[in-house]
Amino acid sequence: MKISVVGTGYVGLVTGTCLADIGHYVTCVDIDEAKIAKMQRAKSPIFEEGLEDMMKKNIEVDRLHFTTRLSDVLAQTEVLFIAVGTPSDAEGKADLQYVEAVAHEIGKNLDHEIVVANKSTVPVGTARMVESIIRKYYHGPFEVVSCPEFLREGTAVYDFYHPDRVVIGARTKRGADTMLKVFEPIKGEKVVTSVESSEMIKYASNAFLATKISFINEIANICERVGADIDEVAYGMGLDTRIGNKFLRAGLGYGGSCFPKDVRALSQIAGTNGYEFKLLKSVIAVNNDQRKFLIEKLERVLGGIRGKKIAVFGLAFKNNTDDVRESAALDVIELLQGRGVAEIRAFDPQAMENAKREVFNVQFVSDPYDAATGADAVIIATEWEMFSKLDWARMKEVMRQPFILDGRNILDVHALSKLGFTCISVGKGKEALEIPVTKSVKV
Ligand code: UGA
Repeated sequence: MKISVVGTGYVGLVTGTCLADIGHYVTCVDIDEAKIAKMQRAKSPIFEEGLEDMMKKNIEVDRLHFTTRLSDVLAQTEVLFIAVGTPSDAEGKADLQYVEAVAHEIGKNLDHEIVVANKSTVPVGTARMVESIIRKYYHGPFEVVSCPEFLREGTAVYDFYHPDRVVIGARTKRGADTMLKVFEPIKGEKVVTSVESSEMIKYASNAFLATKISFINEIANICERVGADIDEVAYGMGLDTRIGNKFLRAGLGYGGSCFPKDVRALSQIAGTNGYEFKLLKSVIAVNNDQRKFLIEKLERVLGGIRGKKIAVFGLAFKNNTDDVRESAALDVIELLQGRGVAEIRAFDPQAMENAKREVFNVQFVSDPYDAATGADAVIIATEWEMFSKLDWARMKEVMRQPFILDGRNILDVHALSKLGFTCISVGKGKEALEIPVTKSVKV
C-alpha cells in the first residue's frame, strides 16, 4: 500500500520505517529540512535499537522516502498517518496546533479518497475535528480513523512487530478494513472500536501504567517504615495474574515524553467534561514528591547537600534511550542545585548531548569513575544495566565518601554494604536491609 507518515518524531519515524519493512511504500514527511536531509542519508535523528539499519535497508529497496512536501506525495497516498507532537500547554491540555496544521494541509491538497489515521495522542473528539477541517476544503469521500501508538522508546522496533494489540477506531467497515490491511502482516490481536473509544484507550492505558508506578512508589514508602522490602512485595504481588508483574518497579518515578503529558491531559480532559479525576491528581503529586523524598533522604544521611560534590549516573528518562524529556534525573539535578550542591558531575551512556541543553552548571564526563572522583555520593537516576555491573570497589577508592542513592533499585545493597558503602535504596526497611535476600527476586 502507499502510505505517508506526517511527523518524524519517535512515533512517526519508527512507524514509517517499520511499515516500509513489512512491505508498504512509505514516505515520511516533516517540515524540518535538516532532519529530512539526514534521514535521506539513512541517519536516524534518535537513538533507537535497530532503527538505523532498518531505515538503510528500506531506503535501498526504494520502499522508504523522506520529504518536506506533503503536497508532493498526497496524490499517491492511500493511507496517511498523522504522527506529529501534541505537547502539554500551560494548563496541561494537549496542544493540537500541529495536528490542526496537518489537517489544513491535507484538506487543501486532497483530490481523492484516502484514510487519515491519527497516531498522535489526542483528546477524544480530535478525529472529528480533523475531519471537519479537511471537509472545509475537500467534499469528496474520505475517513479519519484513530490508530493509537503503544511503542516504548528503547524497544520501539521490537514493539512494532510484537504488539499486545493493534487498536483501530473507525466509523465505517471500509475504514476499519483498510487499516486491518495495513497491519495484516503483524501478529497480535487487532481491536476495532469506535473512534472515541480508541482515542480513550490510549490515554487510559498510559494513565493506568503511571498509576501502577505511583502506587508501587507509595507502597515502597510504607515498606521502609514497616521494615518490608519493596522488591519482595512487588514480586509477590506480581505473581497474581490479575495484577501482573510489569510496571511495579519502585524508584524515582516516571518521566518521558508520554506519561507525564498524557496523565496531565487526561486529568484535564476529565475536568473540562465536568468530572474531577481525583486518582490521577494524586498519581501526579506522588510522582513529583517521590524525587523530593529521595533527595531529602540523601540530605539527611549526608548531613546536608550544601557544599557537597555529587555524581549523577543516568540522565535519560529510562534506560536504552537518549531522551531526557521530563526525566527524573533532571529533576534530581535541579533539587540538588536548589539545596546548594557544590558540584555535580554527570554521566550517561547515551543522553549527555540532550541533557546539556536542559541543565546547567553540571560537569558532563564520559566515564562513570571520572564522574565519581572526589564525590560525596553517587546517585543512580536511570536504570541503565551497565550501572549494576560497575566495579564498585574501584568506585569507592575514587570517591570522597562512600554514599550511594540507588534511585532505581538496581544495585545489590548487601554486596555494596560489604564493600563499606552506605546505600540508600527505595522501599527497603531497616529489617529488610539486615537480612540479605537469598533467592533472586525479579520484577
Ligand atoms: C510509554 C508506554 O509504555 C508506551 O506503551 C506508550 O506507547 C508510550 O509511553 C507513548 O505514549 O508513546 P515510554 O514513554 O517509552 O512508553 O516509557 P516506559 O517504558 O513506559 O517508561 C516510562 C517511565 O516510567 C520511565 O521513566 C521509567 O523509568 C518509569 N518506570 C517504568 C518506572 O518508574 N517503574 C516501572 O516499573 C516502569
